[in-house]
Amino acid sequence: MKNFKRHTITAALPYANGPLHIGHIAGAYLPADTYVRYLRLKGEDVVFICGSDEHGVAITLGAKKEGVTPKAFVDKYHSLMKKAFGDFGISFDIYSRTSNPVHYETAQEFFKNIYDKGIFLEETSDQYYDEQEGIFLADRYIIGTCPKCGNPNAYGDQCEKCGTSLSPRELINPRSTVSGKTPVLKPTKHWYFPLDKYESWLKEWIVEGHKDDWKTNVYGQCKSWIDQGLQPRSITRDLDWGVPVPLKDGKGKVLYVWFDAPIGYISATKELKPNDWKKYWQDPESRLIHFIGKDNIVFHCVIFPSILKAAGGYVLPDNVPANEFLNLEGDKISTSRNHAVWLHEYLQDFPGRRDELRYMLTSISPETKDADFTWKDYQSKVNSELVAILGNFVNRVMVLTWKYFDGKVPSAHELPATDDRRKKILNKYNQAHTDLNTSVKDMIAALDDFRFRESQFHMMNLCRIGNKFLADTEPWKLAKDDMEAVGSILNYALTVVGNIAIACEPFLPDTAKNIKSQLNSSAIDASWKEFWKKQQLIDPVPQNHQLGKAELLFKNIEDEEIDKQVAKLKKPKVVEEQKSESAVKPLKAQVTIDDFSKLDIRVGKVLAAEKMEKSDKLLKLTVDTGVDQRTVLSGIAKHYSPEEMVGKQVTLIANLAPRKMMGIESQGMILMAEDADGKLRLLQPNEVVNPGSTVS
Ligand code: 2FM
Ligand code: ZN
Repeated sequence: MKNFKRHTITAALPYANGPLHIGHIAGAYLPADTYVRYLRLKGEDVVFICGSDEHGVAITLGAKKEGVTPKAFVDKYHSLMKKAFGDFGISFDIYSRTSNPVHYETAQEFFKNIYDKGIFLEETSDQYYDEQEGIFLADRYIIGTCPKCGNPNAYGDQCEKCGTSLSPRELINPRSTVSGKTPVLKPTKHWYFPLDKYESWLKEWIVEGHKDDWKTNVYGQCKSWIDQGLQPRSITRDLDWGVPVPLKDGKGKVLYVWFDAPIGYISATKELKPNDWKKYWQDPESRLIHFIGKDNIVFHCVIFPSILKAAGGYVLPDNVPANEFLNLEGDKISTSRNHAVWLHEYLQDFPGRRDELRYMLTSISPETKDADFTWKDYQSKVNSELVAILGNFVNRVMVLTWKYFDGKVPSAHELPATDDRRKKILNKYNQAHTDLNTSVKDMIAALDDFRFRESQFHMMNLCRIGNKFLADTEPWKLAKDDMEAVGSILNYALTVVGNIAIACEPFLPDTAKNIKSQLNSSAIDASWKEFWKKQQLIDPVPQNHQLGKAELLFKNIEDEEIDKQVAKLKKPKVVEEQKSESAVKPLKAQVTIDDFSKLDIRVGKVLAAEKMEKSDKLLKLTVDTGVDQRTVLSGIAKHYSPEEMVGKQVTLIANLAPRKMMGIESQGMILMAEDADGKLRLLQPNEVVNPGSTVS
């Protein structure tokens, strides 16, 4: 492999549209973090870049569903996600966001640069338009039947059932996701990136050039995409949320999210290193690696590199180690069904057990095919591997050293092979040493090759070999008559513990810290670089050194803890998720501030309330409006009793034309909030105000 001067490592910018779950972590962030920690340990120059992807339909539709603005929506999820990543210990050098001004500038500069070179195509074409909502329908704003597989709910950009990439005009029976209405066609102008012109270059660069070093799943997807023939792709949208198109005739249009998001990696690097970001992106001696999930492959391997090439002067990804998907208990992870293990909930339910989740997710990492997370498997990996192999080895060595040598590292006596017993010890030592060095080499080779699952297995082999060495040499039996041998064995076992502290750091950073603190060894910190450079055992624990207290590294996970988690998965959806897409009423047509100011909305106080005869819905209220006392009929009888209503503050429209119902005139309308199940709740100020206070 070519020697690079520095490394630019990116992890897919997650949409700021919901909390993170284990699928996200296993897909991109954990492998990226493991790799970055490894590079840092080798002393490499590395930047680890990530941030929230805050544009696109995932955001605007999500915001609509929650009834908030896109800005409020991304603000909420950006901070939730940033916190969860931080709490879990993903060691980004920066976690930025694509709504930052520096990103707007960078994305617009990119667009202008390519535009000025005359590379984009401009085209006015008929596109679907929702007349009721007054919006063009691209991507996930439109659904219809997939022309390939007949899935009736295929999106305008992709059918999730068969994976085909689609355009809205290909859908059969298209309908608007917002209003449910059948759209009409209307002309609109957009800019297109001529991907077809990059086809032969992509063939050479990927199909020929990365046949051997890219993962089969990644290479295969790219090749089949390129082989099918590439088309120009529209890179702008008619939306009001996103990076505005920086052209005079680009009013009301924004950059397509998949144009701006990957540029977010560059903007975030600029933010992190305002003075020397360029070398991480433009110096051919920088190695660019994108960690992503399989649904992002074509964007990172085909489209973004072509855009970088069009812009000119940028390095291209040297590798894109994309993972397949993680399932949960045999079923797809699903946000809407709440079938997920949420990262923030895991951290709450299992405090101090971050490494346990890291270990589990790496050991089932979906590197070559989809993988399945089950809680039983998690329990067994923790109990029979972390506790029984790693924890047990380190603890045995620590406890024995305290028992026989008061916690002082014994000398590594030269052990002459005076008898069979000594000969056997020397044999076992030689064998362990060879096996350990092989495991170190295998572990590092797998890390270099993004085979984290295998690499972690080799790391654990250090502990397996250590345990076997103790079992074979039985120092507790020698303590009767050969303390020199006991000392030598434990000296070596402590060396192994020290090397494990170093080797496990990319995978289990908290555990590495814990072992180092038990060893109480500053010598380790001085020597670890040598381990990674030489790729062999080093001698990190000097003789006579006083160890710290022995503590257990891991605790068994009990059945009850697991049962609780499994039961949680079976629970109905959380309240927030209960709103199905159709349950949220579509937005009404726009009104002006003048329309709004015609309404006299004010707070009143209910003085009296009674049930209306012959109606199970209506209550007759007498309301003090500050200006008068009047009768208002309200359809809340199923939700509030008359007794409950007396004395309550209500908000009412006081200038609504009076209306007669069941022989009584209602002089106004009480405002209510109605949820998806039709439950009504009074709309009230959050503190008591005088009757007659106006609402504006
Ligand atoms: O699939 C996703 O979650 C996208 N937000 C990933 C974007 S990665 C990059 F391009 F920013
Ligand atoms: Zn399909």
